[in-house]
Amino acid sequence: MIHFDGVGKRYPTGVAALSQVTVRIDPGEFVFLVGPTGSGKSTFLKLIQAIERPTTGRVVVDGDDVGALPAAAVPRLRRRLGVVFQEFKLLPDRTVADNVAFALRVTGTDPVEIGPRVQWALETVGMAPRADDLPARLSGGEQQRVCLARAIVTRPRVVLADEPTGNLDPEAAWEIVQLLARINLRGTTVLVSTHNPTLVDILRRRVIELCAGRIVRDEARGLYQATR
Ligand SMILES: Nc1ncnc2c1ncn2[C@@H]1O[C@H](COP(=O)(O)OP(=O)(O)O)[C@@H](O)[C@H]1O
Ligand SMILES: [Mg+2]
Repeated sequence: MIHFDGVGKRYPTGVAALSQVTVRIDPGEFVFLVGPTGSGKSTFLKLIQAIERPTTGRVVVDGDDVGALPAAAVPRLRRRLGVVFQEFKLLPDRTVADNVAFALRVTGTDPVEIGPRVQWALETVGMAPRADDLPARLSGGEQQRVCLARAIVTRPRVVLADEPTGNLDPEAAWEIVQLLARINLRGTTVLVSTHNPTLVDILRRRVIELCAGRIVRDEARGLYQATR
């Protein structure tokens, strides 16, 4: 599903954000990506989306060599990925339902399908009753649930979440991670970068730890901290 083969990423500034990263993530896996700020987590997720390209090595997503993908093929790649950000990125002047529908409109979904699909996605995250509200009326946890609905409404095979609970209180953070786990149970591959030890330790899923751009640990059913 996702394969990094000897991947290095050096930014034009000279910073080596990733070095010699080789890892394979299979369909249906749930993976936590951990490591200190600056260790390369966001860069790892950006390479999968072709927001950044590797300097060395290959990033393969669903059989596509993403680093070599022509610009015209990038939208098709991104349609197969659902993405959630720490800072939500909802459109402030659109309702909850419109924010979720937007993801379908830009991908040219048949208009008669949009309503039912939006309803399904909002029900999945428990936000259907708030469909007509503007994002500013929602709590942070509720906004992030809408973002999750926006990420899954296109039925992607992979959901990428970059510190999705970074701005949330513990209870809201736990709800988001439980929703991600439920989405994973339906077969969607889920990759979550996080700084939150509690969530990682409760779920006991695969943990990939980055330090200064290198994978220093890759453990099935891991904890946030390495056990020695
Ligand atoms: N667009 C960029 N240009 C230059 N350096 C960057 C850029 N994005 C990230 N970096 C650097 O790359 C390293 C890894 O960053 P990042 O992938 O954001 O790590 P993390 O998400 O783990 O905090 C850091 O040293 C960071 O400063
Ligand atoms: Mg980051």
